[in-house]
Amino acid sequence: NVNSLRLRVASPTSNLALEVADIDWDNLGFGFMPTDYMYITKCSHGDNFSEGELQRFGNIELSPSAGILNYGQGLFEGLKAYRTDDGNILLFRPEENALRLRVGAERMCMPSPTVEQFMEAVKATVLANERWIPPPGKGSLYIRPLLMGSGAVLGLAPAPEYTFLIYVSPVGNYFKEGLAPINLIVETEMHRATPGGTGGVKTIGNYAAVLKAQGAAKAKGFSDVLYLDSVHKRYLEEVSSCNVFVVKGNVISTPAIKGTILPGITRKSILDVALNQGFKVEERLVTIDELLDADEVFCTGTAVVVSPVGSITYLNKRVTYGSDGVGRVSEQLYSALTSLQMGLAEDKMGWTVE
Ligand code: COI
Repeated sequence: NVNSLRLRVASPTSNLALEVADIDWDNLGFGFMPTDYMYITKCSHGDNFSEGELQRFGNIELSPSAGILNYGQGLFEGLKAYRTDDGNILLFRPEENALRLRVGAERMCMPSPTVEQFMEAVKATVLANERWIPPPGKGSLYIRPLLMGSGAVLGLAPAPEYTFLIYVSPVGNYFKEGLAPINLIVETEMHRATPGGTGGVKTIGNYAAVLKAQGAAKAKGFSDVLYLDSVHKRYLEEVSSCNVFVVKGNVISTPAIKGTILPGITRKSILDVALNQGFKVEERLVTIDELLDADEVFCTGTAVVVSPVGSITYLNKRVTYGSDGVGRVSEQLYSALTSLQMGLAEDKMGWTVE
């Protein structure tokens, strides 16, 4: 019940370009679809965010001199709401997003909402847009919190005003391959992050920085790009929008979080799920040679969930994994994670929030 969340709700209108009834739930991709409401709150630099409000979804007004437009002072988050068979709506580990946003805000010199505010705002936004949550098993409602320097600046400095906003959109599979294995190319010239930079927080600039290599890879028929570390050009970092894992025998390894890699919530969850399933898990430096020699490779992320990798191309050499289907480990972990997220398995870790 939205009202129990004490938020002001503007009166509903029905002038949307697309109506829920028009959606083909069986063919949802990962594209933006406007919904009914967005959450918004503002504060001045040095202050705390006050209780926000739900507004009709629509464009926002920004000064051309806004900190986010001129100096990239912005962060985003991504999480999902699932509709369950028994009529509930589940969020997956939303406090983790709230905490990650706070860490990122500290790095980007921005105020951030408290965990409680974040949680209340996410729940209110999801409930206000409830009709846009796909039916069970057909996808999820992607929740996109944005934190930005919205005040005007000209000299390089933190913006004088900040906006915290949440919008949502129904989504299906991230990659056009769906759950079929994706084909990655290792980028050897451009880098996603450098030590001491902002690769470890979810700042908007990290994503603009990968568009050029991603575009070139897509033009050659690859699904996406895998980045190497910028110092040795030898250790795995991550894919443009997700973390990477290599499987060798019973050992599942992923690059350790050391400032250049996004601390993915799906990454963290998969490490726990794999450990519980009897795998040995390792967070460490993982070399390109280990990747090429792996039994299986997969990516994880909120948007991509668990995405098996079918091939890696590195310096004109192409290595394929498995025969042509999804690898056994990727499939097992995908199934365990999504069962939890969709409320089909007992949530012993207490990760889901109704
Ligand atoms: C997510 O997985 O939620 C992300 O933030 C990746 C984004 C590029 C879609």
